Amino acid sequence: MYPLNRNRRLRSKQSLRNLIKESSIHPHDFIVPLFIIEGNNLKEEIPSMPNYFRYSLDNVKKEVKQLWSIGVQAVLLFVKVEDSLKDNFGTEAINNNGLMQRAIKEVKNSVPEMTIITDVALDPYSNYGHDGIVKNNKILNDQTNIVLSKMALSHAKAGADIVAPSDMMDGRVLSIRKILEDNSLHDTGIMSYAVKYASSFYGPFRDALDSKPGFGDKQTYQMDFHNRSEAIAEAKSDIEEGADIIMVKPGISYLDILRDLKNEISSPIAIYQVSGEYSMLKAAAKQGWLDHDKVMMEQLVSMKRAGATMIASYFAEDAIKLIS
Ligand code: PBG
Repeated sequence: MYPLNRNRRLRSKQSLRNLIKESSIHPHDFIVPLFIIEGNNLKEEIPSMPNYFRYSLDNVKKEVKQLWSIGVQAVLLFVKVEDSLKDNFGTEAINNNGLMQRAIKEVKNSVPEMTIITDVALDPYSNYGHDGIVKNNKILNDQTNIVLSKMALSHAKAGADIVAPSDMMDGRVLSIRKILEDNSLHDTGIMSYAVKYASSFYGPFRDALDSKPGFGDKQTYQMDFHNRSEAIAEAKSDIEEGADIIMVKPGISYLDILRDLKNEISSPIAIYQVSGEYSMLKAAAKQGWLDHDKVMMEQLVSMKRAGATMIASYFAEDAIKLIS
């Protein structure tokens, strides 16, 4: 009670504020998404993601070394697939010599200690731009799981440490866990995008990979952003099926969900600050309307404060420069 208690007392100087600080960000909290393309010596800026790039394999190696040197210890790989290789069955996704599989090996060779996480979903490989096999404008669940599990297996065999299904099919974590166990890949982890909302914040990412849905949207598989309770059910079922890490996606608009999960489950939780969140801040900062670095740190810390164990973010390099 005032004046016995004065909340301002512990805010009076920086050293005291540091002493009582509850959350902070470290370089090893980050997972850095990397977009990979075929070709040589390419580093293409993504128009809707200023200062973020697609790399050819030779440049990815350099980028990964650079990331490791600043303290990043995990990367999340995505590939942009040539149109001629896209079909409705994910044929290229399970090609053991595909771009993803080669990228995993390159990254592993250049920085063996780096944790390699790979995206598992059909959208970059799909001529429909959907995360699963399409039939009569519907996304088939169980047939998709068969391809996803083969895809995960080929990533694991190439050297992925963790596979990250981002497709939201029911039961895919179980299919993936089973195939990994059957192939004695007991130590390959699964980071499930368990709580992934059908969000309009993914727009710039779909530009980056040229993976926009060709018809409809993803609301029959990704979650409805009006809902909160089903997040817990999604997370719990994936944990039962063998997920090691649970992801919430997008980030900043979903911190309530992150906090709910933190209170309900004991698995590590990743949050994905997605492409649209990145692009919004870059755009506002370019206009001079927001202070880029301060808003970036406020958003990243808010994710840690809400309960994130790790953060997938396009801001990782920017943030690490600031904190170190
Ligand atoms: C693919 C996938 C998407 C993202 C990560 N994995 C796009 C989507 O589901 O449409 C989005 C990431 C971002 O926006 O940064 N399934």
